[in-house]
Amino acid sequence: MKKLTYLLGCLTFVFASCGGGDSAKTESAATNTEATASAGESGAVHKGKQLIDKSDCLGCHNETTRVVGPSYLEVAEKYPMSELNVDELADKIIRGGAGVWGEVPMTPHPNMSKEDAKEMVNYILSLKK
Ligand code: HEC
Repeated sequence: MKKLTYLLGCLTFVFASCGGGDSAKTESAATNTEATASAGESGAVHKGKQLIDKSDCLGCHNETTRVVGPSYLEVAEKYPMSELNVDELADKIIRGGAGVWGEVPMTPHPNMSKEDAKEMVNYILSLKK
């Protein structure tokens, strides 16, 4: 619920900044990188989603349907958002491995930074309805 309020806050900010006061302009310049990457939809796209879109994740994962790996929604249902879960799932993405959802392993991502992996997990766990 906190997340939702935050998102709504962001949206309000985006609409407000379209109105174009001077102070709004300075602020939107500060968030410019996020705004340009969002392909003009309703505002800021989660950094974790951008990272996922750029990585190979989508070959095996889908937001709502199980493909090779579990859907992100399933993952979000299974793990509550917590520092420990984010940390462990980030490690799992980097290390790869099997056994939680089935026998098919996830390929390791040894060149991925822990920080990026955590951003992705933050995004995935935020999908829970
Ligand atoms: C080669 C296919 C493949 C790719 C590519 C892949 N995954 Fe996975 N992923 C899987 C499979 C299979 C599982 C289930 C592993 C298990 O049962 O332990 C999984 C599990 C997960 C889980 C849950 C882990 C757990 O222990 O419950 C997360 C989170 C995840 N993947 C995120 C990602 C992200 C983010 C990427 C991109 C960087 C990615 N995956 C790329 C196949 C893949």
